[in-house]
Amino acid sequence: MTDILLLNGPNLGILGEREPEIYGHDTLDDIVAMVREEVAAAGWQVIAVQDESEAELVRAVHRARHSTVGAIVNPAALMMAGWSLRDALASYPPPWVEVHLSNIYAREQFRHESVTAPLASGFIAGIGAYGYRLAARTLLHLAGADR
Ligand code: DQA
Repeated sequence: MTDILLLNGPNLGILGEREPEIYGHDTLDDIVAMVREEVAAAGWQVIAVQDESEAELVRAVHRARHSTVGAIVNPAALMMAGWSLRDALASYPPPWVEVHLSNIYAREQFRHESVTAPLASGFIAGIGAYGYRLAARTLLHLAGADR
């Protein structure tokens, strides 16, 4: 079985209720289902992890290092100073795509620089939950599994 990691950082477990004017109405379960649907035809499975704690996210990246073919990562606020998550991702060999629901560049200055983004294979922001679908397609494409 081929697995990908879908990693979501702090406060993303309350999507749907959380500032819907910024983050939309989709819940995290909706997003996980969307990613599962996108990769199902290729026979891929999704390991979905959301946590408020950076330590748990670091552990999830470590666990996935050799057992997944790629990852979709929304580091949430850890994009700003999540240095241990950044270092865990630096040691994650497969391609991974950073996703932000909102357009972080159209928001407060403190959201304009992501410490994790320079390591990502790709970056998607500002198109809401649809960004996760595009990230899933990107991983399929990079693995040659979209043909
Ligand atoms: C976010 C953007 C971050 O700045 C913020 O801290 C989040 C969500 C997004 O998906 O738009 O929690 O990652």
